Amino acid sequence: MAEVDKRRTVDVRSDTVTRPTAEMRRAMAEAEVGDDVYGEDPSINRLEQRAAEIFGRDAAIFVPTGTMGNQIAIKIHTRPGQEVICEERGHIYNYEMAMLAHFSGCVVRPIYAEDGALTWTGIKKRIAPGIYYRAQTGLISLENTHNMAGGTVYPQQAADEICDHAHEAGIPVHLDGARIFNAAAASGRSVAEITKKFDSVMFCLSKGLGAPVGSMLVGSRKFIDMARIYRKALGGGMRQAGVLAAAGLIALEKGPKRLHEDHANAKFMAEELVKIPSLKLDAAKVQTNILVFDISGTGMDSAAVTRKLGERGVLAAGISPEAMRFVTHMDVSRDDCAHAISAMHEVCTGAGRAAGS
Ligand SMILES: Cc1ncc(COP(=O)(O)O)c(C=O)c1O
Repeated sequence: MAEVDKRRTVDVRSDTVTRPTAEMRRAMAEAEVGDDVYGEDPSINRLEQRAAEIFGRDAAIFVPTGTMGNQIAIKIHTRPGQEVICEERGHIYNYEMAMLAHFSGCVVRPIYAEDGALTWTGIKKRIAPGIYYRAQTGLISLENTHNMAGGTVYPQQAADEICDHAHEAGIPVHLDGARIFNAAAASGRSVAEITKKFDSVMFCLSKGLGAPVGSMLVGSRKFIDMARIYRKALGGGMRQAGVLAAAGLIALEKGPKRLHEDHANAKFMAEELVKIPSLKLDAAKVQTNILVFDISGTGMDSAAVTRKLGERGVLAAGISPEAMRFVTHMDVSRDDCAHAISAMHEVCTGAGRAAGS
């Protein structure tokens, strides 16, 4: 394999690292704005209306981050002292600063599921019995695609079944759909269809869709009216936020159309990484833009591999000492992927070092 070009930088740490396009920057500079706390920002209003239309819902609200969107939804759906069921590696449980406890006064009832996809059979056994001395299950929250399980897409039937049975039991279901457009691109279904049975959906503009800032929460009119109250309470009333919505609108309209490129790039990397004997990865399971793979066979931990990749111009991230994650996005080309693979090859096999690396 050719020695890697060290002058180049490829950032596969996350799809959150993208820079706004020239078109987004222009739209931001020219955005029509007003005070969004008064409901007077035309760009924000347009973005919220488009998000609601695309998801086939009554209403939507712009929030600064996916974390705020998820936590507002959890607050609305639950009461203090309840449990929230989610997958063990879920974002709301592991990466949202225990706000579920802090802000909503709930605890997580985590359930592990292969590929991150819970089933009703798995959930049913963990719903609290309806007796007064047990904390009650207030909410089920699913994640599609599932980030830490490797960008996996929820089997539609499993998600629909969970929603149907949960609703029969009087339990609402929230979707952390930070990357729901990736799930739609991979499954060939619309986001409206994938998400129609959920009580609320959060999705991010600032990940694969490429906006610099922002996420959306969609749901019923009543739910979004409540969300507006909690967004303000959390300090998320942002005044002339139309400068952000202008980029968000471009991300929403144009971003989904190119996600298949990121998926093809991730597949390409997976098929190359499996050729490195010290790495463990099932390329057939790579469905979207995220690769999670085991590096324990290299004899190094992820901090060492990350450092060595960094020396070769590849920014990557460990998710545990034994596992790493690569994420493709609009600022990573096929050529960049090839560069990351060469670097990984060099780090794992030592190939190329004799030539002076
Ligand atoms: C699955 C998932 N949900 C929610 C979030 C939170 O988004 P934000 O970083 O905008 O708070 C992320 C961020 O990486 C995520 O991966």
